[in-house]
Amino acid sequence: MRIVLVGPPGAGKGTQAQFIASHLSIPKISTGDIFRANVSGNTPLGQKAKEYMDRGDLVPDEVTIAMVRDRLAEDDAQEGFLLDGFPRNVPQAETLKKILSEMDRKLDLVLELVVDDDEVVRRLSGRRTCRKCGRIWHVAFDPPTKDGVCDVCGGELFQRDDDREETIRHRLEVYQEQTAPLASFYADEGILVGLDATGPVEEVTERALAALRRFA
Ligand code: AP5
Ligand code: ZN
Repeated sequence: MRIVLVGPPGAGKGTQAQFIASHLSIPKISTGDIFRANVSGNTPLGQKAKEYMDRGDLVPDEVTIAMVRDRLAEDDAQEGFLLDGFPRNVPQAETLKKILSEMDRKLDLVLELVVDDDEVVRRLSGRRTCRKCGRIWHVAFDPPTKDGVCDVCGGELFQRDDDREETIRHRLEVYQEQTAPLASFYADEGILVGLDATGPVEEVTERALAALRRFA
């Protein structure tokens, strides 16, 4: 299947992506993760992306689209994929459609995770991510057994630079202005499913898998 997850920062896209992708045995492609890996490796791509990410703005489309185009051409993405964090505006969605149609393919489903702003702030302010395996944790809602240490791989947990309160607020504004219009774009294509993303992580995963079964 070819699936896109959309939703505001902190809606749980990365959390759900890791479970859904492994359940369906398809790669999870997160543009945020790819950018962050490039920023920590101080690559040319990371240098271009860093200032936008630190502000909570979108990285320019030409940079992001070239990166996604390359990633979708890799072998493991040929039988399906789950995109987390891309597309992020209507021009990116239009380009994705074009890239896939050149490969004689199209998206099967777009899952929109719906949560309110207060919940977003609660989730992002307690988020911790494993430096080694990328597993996402929350200090209160999904805590590791030992503070600061990943249960999966023993890696060190860190707090993202863009999870400061003023940057979170700006990311929410950017979401409303640039990303929220994707809902009507994909509703017009007949592939949008809205998903209540509140409640425990496992319940949200169950709802997501039920939606996928209806579209499979
Ligand atoms: P990106 O990494 O995509 O960030 P984002 O969209 O802001 O989303 P987040 O990763 O913050 O949240 P999430 O929805 O994945 O939530 P999570 O699962 O972690 O992008 C970062 C930056 O990169 C952008 O600002 C931009 O600069 C750049 N960028 C990326 N893609 C781009 C693009 N296409 N174009 C241009 N620029 C781009 O969950 C959050 C917390 O909540 C965790 O602690 C988790 O444990 C907890 N949680 C999750 N689910 C639940 C639940 N059900 N109940 C309680 N807690 C929960
Ligand atoms: Zn880990």
